[in-house]
Amino acid sequence: MKIAIAADHGGFELKEALKKHYMSQNFADLGTYTTESVDYPDIARKMVRTILGGQADLGILICGTGIGISIAANRYKGIRAALIYSQDVARLAKQHNNANILVFGGRTMAVDDVIKYIDTFLQSSYEGERHQRRLDKLDITE
Ligand code: RB5
Repeated sequence: MKIAIAADHGGFELKEALKKHYMSQNFADLGTYTTESVDYPDIARKMVRTILGGQADLGILICGTGIGISIAANRYKGIRAALIYSQDVARLAKQHNNANILVFGGRTMAVDDVIKYIDTFLQSSYEGERHQRRLDKLDITE
C-alpha cells in the first residue's frame, strides 16, 4: 500500500516523527518541508490530488488540531478524511467509513498514540454492505 503524508507548520514535527517511525513504508512526503507558516487548505488540496489521482492509496494529513485540514479535505468529492482520536475510532474509520485520509492534530496528540491509531487502521478491514450504501450517498451533490 502506497501511503502519502502531508502537514502544515502545526503538524510538521508530527509528520517528521511518523516518517521516521514508518521508515520502511517509505511514505511519500507532500510537504510542508519546514516550520515556516503555510495555509492548510493548500496542503489538503495537494493530498486530495494525490489520492484522487491514484498516486497513493491512503493519505495522512496533519495540522495543529486536525480540524482545519479535515474540513478542507472533505470538501472534495471522493474524499473521506477522518479525524482520528482513539483506537476504536481508527478501527471504525476503516470498518464503516473506509476512510482514504487519516487526520491528526500535531499540537493536540502524542506521537505514540498516533502510531497506535495508524497501526489499528491498517490492521482493520472495510465491512462494505450497508456501509457502502451510505458511502455512495456521500457524493450525491443535488
Ligand atoms: C495553524 O496555526 C493552525 O490554525 C492550523 O494548523 C490548524 O490547527 C487549523 O485548524
